[in-house]
Amino acid sequence: MIRVFSDEQRPAFVLDTEHTTYAFRVLPTGQLEQLYYGARIRADDLSELAAWEEQHRFPPGTSVVYDPDHGEYSLDDVCLEYSAPGKGDLREPMIELVHADGGRTSDFVYRSHAVSEAKPDSLLPGAYAADGRAERLSVTLRDDYYNLTLELRWDVWADCDCICRSARLKNTGSEYVNIERLLSAQLDLPVPGWAVSSFHGAWAREMDRAVTPLSAGKLVIESRAGCSSNRANPFFMVHDPDAAEEQGGCYGFNLIYSGNHYAAVEISTTGKTRIVSGLNPAGFRWLLGAGEEFETPEAVLSFSPAGFDALSQNMHSFVREHIVRGAWKHRLRPVLLNSWEASYFDITESSLVSLARAGKELGVELFVMDDGWFGDRDDDRRSLGDWEVNRRKLPGGLEGLCRKINELGMSFGLWVEPEMVNVDSELYRAHPDWAMAIPGKLHSEGRSQRLLDLSNPTVQDFIISKMTKLFSAAPISYVKWDFNRPVSDVFSPALPPERQGETGHRYYLGLYRVMRTLTERFPEILFEGCASGGARFDLGILSFFPQIWASDNTDALARARIQEGCSYGYPPSVWGAHVSACPNHQTLRRTPLSTRFDIACFGLLGYELDLRELRAEEKREIRSQIILYKRWREVFQFGRFHRGRTEGGLHEWTAVSDDGSRAVGMLMRELVRANVQFERFLPRGLAPEKRYHFYNVARRVDLRAFGSLINTASPLRVRQDSLVHNVLSKAVRMSGEREDVTAYGDALCASGVKLSPAFAGTGYGEGVRLSRDFSSQLYFMEEQPVTS
Ligand code: DGJ
Repeated sequence: MIRVFSDEQRPAFVLDTEHTTYAFRVLPTGQLEQLYYGARIRADDLSELAAWEEQHRFPPGTSVVYDPDHGEYSLDDVCLEYSAPGKGDLREPMIELVHADGGRTSDFVYRSHAVSEAKPDSLLPGAYAADGRAERLSVTLRDDYYNLTLELRWDVWADCDCICRSARLKNTGSEYVNIERLLSAQLDLPVPGWAVSSFHGAWAREMDRAVTPLSAGKLVIESRAGCSSNRANPFFMVHDPDAAEEQGGCYGFNLIYSGNHYAAVEISTTGKTRIVSGLNPAGFRWLLGAGEEFETPEAVLSFSPAGFDALSQNMHSFVREHIVRGAWKHRLRPVLLNSWEASYFDITESSLVSLARAGKELGVELFVMDDGWFGDRDDDRRSLGDWEVNRRKLPGGLEGLCRKINELGMSFGLWVEPEMVNVDSELYRAHPDWAMAIPGKLHSEGRSQRLLDLSNPTVQDFIISKMTKLFSAAPISYVKWDFNRPVSDVFSPALPPERQGETGHRYYLGLYRVMRTLTERFPEILFEGCASGGARFDLGILSFFPQIWASDNTDALARARIQEGCSYGYPPSVWGAHVSACPNHQTLRRTPLSTRFDIACFGLLGYELDLRELRAEEKREIRSQIILYKRWREVFQFGRFHRGRTEGGLHEWTAVSDDGSRAVGMLMRELVRANVQFERFLPRGLAPEKRYHFYNVARRVDLRAFGSLINTASPLRVRQDSLVHNVLSKAVRMSGEREDVTAYGDALCASGVKLSPAFAGTGYGEGVRLSRDFSSQLYFMEEQPVTS
């Protein structure tokens, strides 16, 4: 709810979500003072807001006084909703302009405000409501000297405690102005002493949470990679230093954008904390001519007074309800089999069909042909851009292959990378000026490829028409849309020199137009974003594609950490997660098949390995995994996901159905601790008043896990890994532990379930928990009737 408390000169604005309040007011000097952002509080009239206002009587020390008529204010020591340089605020600005006269000072003051129930159309993606109703407060500010209007917007998404901020600058004068920086949000908190959780990484190592306590100076979280990047995700949190899953004040920030982003958290000299977030000013400059407008992406803000878990729930429901859209928004996602790690570029129609058949036999629903099917694509050095089927590999074309897959009873999907081109391609030979490059200068490539210049509408049209033709060539149900290099040599051959600073942002405006057109044209296709895994895991992509391939790393241990990182800001319904071969192709680590599944099933499950080569027992295991996944898919994909304990190499997750009646838990301890028998599973998020049957599915124990220890039980001497050892392991059926208790949700969440004792160097027998390095277990919780 948006409330405006009006006094003619200095209105105040109070934005309430279900559990938070955000308030600001016009200062006597005309700027906007941030008054409060935190847990929901009450205020019935303007007089009560006085308690929230800082009492400025005199300026601090040697600071700059903005206006001699208000000698009590130095903008450097006020909590502001926006800031521009040149008038005394020496902290990170939200706005930096270079005016036609060369001046860099900007001075925007309050002029008017409006509350509306609609958001006008934009070239950028943004949050939306299913019923089309928004709650928007717009405040208009003016810099009369330079004839500029700045509109700041606050969109209130009350149901998930989120507020989106954005800005629009309009040049109402007759001179041009250069925008050097126009960020989306600024939040000033009156106190220092916060810690920042940000999510960093690299290829195959995405979303690694780093916690930085901030006592002075500034922390910058940014991408200059030309995409939101795996180096620093746009999602971050600012929180109490001792915040934990269920305690501590915690602010969350994200940006609905896929290009270079920038955020800074700065402690001022007077002990205030400034947080800014938006488009990265590095390499950016926008020439705004007379009468033109520039709009920023939307920044997402949220607050939880009770730790990371509640903040994650806010972010999850925001993404599920206000970002993801289209036919797949709430639709269960199919179990897929992807050809990449099974075959890489070495594919033919018959090999793909036999792989798909192996998948069908185990219960897979969707077969995805990855890279290698077009042009002369036998490696990654050629043919990107030539979206014609390679008839040597696929003699029946896409249609023929798709028909055969469909005849198996599976749907069919394919891989594309439409934004890129190899120099060794027909497309590049025909249109070298469509690639991003500085004419005549050696271009530095990544994965032997260049970016197409999507800032150029002709190139956008080409991609739209090529992909339209491709997606219409056969009944294609799914598309994996890849993007495989960071950007270099940024330059648009289609833009004049004075607009080259716009190239990076225009690229994304172009990409969004392409994505919007294609997703509207093919509403039934399930699109999955990918950028060498998670190098573009962001809300801009999710506004068009309902899911993203989170990482090329499918190693269960690495994936547990990556998905845990993702889960702070994104729900499992948006990340693809696959079971792959062992040893793993990224880490060469060996992990049990059961663990690979236990991690991947908390997400959108797929398989990415050569199923034809598996042993019969592995196939049996995968068949059971898929049956189980389908039975619990709704909970895994769309349930509320909670992290449990994360310390000491523990991964403890619970997904709870919306109505609280069903839940699944997962416990994985990275490394075994010698002589520790006892372990608890501590679920989260269960309905306190519901009674649950808590159980597991006992897994068969392979005797070979005990190596030569078998001789302590066997009457005959057995040589480890010998034929006899193998035969015995098949013949002797030993079952792992069984958990089976019934308890109320509050009891389960408070005390946890004390699990069966683990093998601890001693004590193995039927029913003992065999906890090995990287082993894991799933626990199921189903509501039981309460009998009084
Ligand atoms: C990078 C992706 O992340 C992989 O999954 C695979 O699709 C390759 N590209 C194909 O080139």
